[in-house]
Amino acid sequence: MGVEVSVEGLTKSFGVQKIWQDVTLTLPTGEVSALLGPSGTGKSVFLKSLIGLLRPEEGSIVVDGTDIMECSSKELYEIRKLFGVLFQDGALFGSMNLYDNTAFPLREHTKKKEDEIRKIVMEKLELVGLTGAENKLPGEISGGMRKRAGLARALVLDPEIILVDEPDSGLDPVRTTYISQLLLNINAQIDATMLIVTHNINLARTVPDNIGMLFRKNLVMFGPREVLLTSEEPAVKQFLNGTMIGPIGMSEEKDEAQMRQEQALSDAGHNLGGVEDVEGIMPQMDPTPGMPRRQAVDRRRERVRSIMHTLPENAQHAIQQSLDEADGERQPAYAGADGRQGGDEHGGYEQGGYQQSGYQQGGYEGGGYQQGGHDGGGYQQGGYDQGGWSNDDAPTEQRGYQGWNEPEPRDRYDSPTDRPRG
Ligand SMILES: Nc1ncnc2c1ncn2[C@@H]1O[C@H](COP(=O)(O)OP(=O)(O)O)[C@@H](O)[C@H]1O
Ligand SMILES: [Mg+2]
Repeated sequence: MGVEVSVEGLTKSFGVQKIWQDVTLTLPTGEVSALLGPSGTGKSVFLKSLIGLLRPEEGSIVVDGTDIMECSSKELYEIRKLFGVLFQDGALFGSMNLYDNTAFPLREHTKKKEDEIRKIVMEKLELVGLTGAENKLPGEISGGMRKRAGLARALVLDPEIILVDEPDSGLDPVRTTYISQLLLNINAQIDATMLIVTHNINLARTVPDNIGMLFRKNLVMFGPREVLLTSEEPAVKQFLNGTMIGPIGMSEEKDEAQMRQEQALSDAGHNLGGVEDVEGIMPQMDPTPGMPRRQAVDRRRERVRSIMHTLPENAQHAIQQSLDEADGERQPAYAGADGRQGGDEHGGYEQGGYQQSGYQQGGYEGGGYQQGGHDGGGYQQGGYDQGGWSNDDAPTEQRGYQGWNEPEPRDRYDSPTDRPRG
């Protein structure tokens, strides 16, 4: 099972340039969270701060009970072993083939013998659908394959926490969906706590359990996916719809005059881009049939139920709806887990469950979160469809099932295992 990562009051600057301030959020154990935000808002900086590669000036980052802002470098070294990180560009060594790249952390951080290393490396390469490509150099493969190789390397030390920086960048929409599926499958298989940094809206809508967004040096909000996906917050709505209408501009700041001008253009019928408003919340993707079920789902249901009353009304409705749907499909074996009322064991999950900085009249000043109205009962299923769970007992070899079938120009014919095995 993954471990919780709890960030409080984190502030990071480079010289006089403040990147973000007072960021508070908790990555719940074993759940998949996503951090959105326009380019340059400091998402990668946040990710690097979480593993102690960059040092924020203020705040705390508690990983599995240890504050890495306070601990010794020896402790930090140990804590880092809990992490598997996929950097934005894959960060592979260009002169090493995929096998050696993947083996690298094992050779660096463990005393394992080569035959043991071989077993782990081949297992992880298979997991990401790269069997047969071990001898390729990073320069010889496509961006999608490099991402997957980076992911394999991130997995070899059996991480409790997986950080993924823009898994979609440079990939087409279909390959992005494949990597989304892979990330959920990995979550189902190892129950690691995951944070995905992305500005891909499809991924954000369909993969994570929790979503946050950085904008104008603040964490605009962070909480269960339903909160952000139903938000009326202008920057969030604009971002989710990818339109020019709204507070996000080409550069960080957009002034009132420009916003009025764009609104006038839009009113006059000019197409300001973006997609139609998506009605309701898209269901979350499931792990591929044959995978174990995601253990985080039950934990999240309990957790969200306990904080439901603190959430905005829209989010409560969305959550209740998915609960009701899940109820209809619920398997008898899991029915017993629902008897608890308004849990109170979630003190560790930040104040009231989700943050929203006050976006009011031209500023992201003032923190605090919004308290929704009524007391939320019931539990929540987060749009998770239980349809595939009956495969829990699938033979282990089936659990290695890969949805990958990504024909790479150079590998179409010489990578026989780049196919689903199920
Ligand atoms: N090591 C660094 N030194 C100085 N400035 C940096 C460093 N890393 C990032 N920055 C700056 O921090 C800001 C946020 O960068 P980044 O985290 O890469 O944004 P994002 O990942 O959201 O696109 C940028 O203005 C970038 O120039
Ligand atoms: Mg980045």
